[in-house]
Amino acid sequence: MHLTTLVENTSRSDDLASQNGLSLYLEDHGKRILFDMGLDDTFFRNAEKLGVDISRVDYAILSHGHYDHCGGLETFLKHNTRAPVFLGSGSDQPLYSERPEKYRYIGLDDTLVDANSERFSWVEGNRDVTPWLHLTRKISMAEPRPESNRGNYIRDEDEYLPDPFAHEILCILEETDGMILLTGCGHSGILNMVDTAQEGFPDLPIKAVIGGFHLLRDSRQEVERIAKRLSESGCGRVITGHCTGQEATQIMKDTLGDRLDILYSGYTTEI
Ligand SMILES: [Fe+2]
Ligand SMILES: [Fe+2]
Repeated sequence: MHLTTLVENTSRSDDLASQNGLSLYLEDHGKRILFDMGLDDTFFRNAEKLGVDISRVDYAILSHGHYDHCGGLETFLKHNTRAPVFLGSGSDQPLYSERPEKYRYIGLDDTLVDANSERFSWVEGNRDVTPWLHLTRKISMAEPRPESNRGNYIRDEDEYLPDPFAHEILCILEETDGMILLTGCGHSGILNMVDTAQEGFPDLPIKAVIGGFHLLRDSRQEVERIAKRLSESGCGRVITGHCTGQEATQIMKDTLGDRLDILYSGYTTEI
């Protein structure tokens, strides 16, 4: 699998934009996959600079309904007229974040979804897109969720209810020698995602976990526990950034050492 990071919160240099968003481009088994689309059209402009042709993407996946992962959808649909867009059922709910004294809409643009309904493929439970590309909305709940989820809500008429993140999906790339896990924000908890993958594919080691883990408000003790569990679960590589937060990333690096890499716009690797 070859990974190219189209956009992330940091960048390798001034020629590639960064933003509070995530978009990953992958080539695997001869197919092209776009996992999340960032905040706006930046993923597309960076893709052009990185030699990635968005019109040739075979499968697009939206990890969850938040704007920093789905904001580039209009640009994607304009430049790619063939790839199905997979997303978790419920990603089009009215999603909000809480700011002091007000709620802010941070969900999908539902006019886009309605106008292009034939392009969307809603994931209810487990979905095998191909024999090696698996999506699941059934994510284990045994481990605690990230503390930072506490700022996220779903609006139900006049009420704002805590978002249980049932719309989040985990992506698993199955290789002959192991699996690669992709997570957008990891709202369900990165350890729950690891547990889900290991329950689904008990004979396959985890070659890599890639994406954001949403650990901005978790305690040092909890981040250390997560890093230790990731290490013990045999994760070959942990490649993270976006909403993991710099402090949590550094804490995890102390445990994981060279096994941990930090994402940025333009980061590429072969796994
Ligand atoms: Fe995010
Ligand atoms: Fe999110």
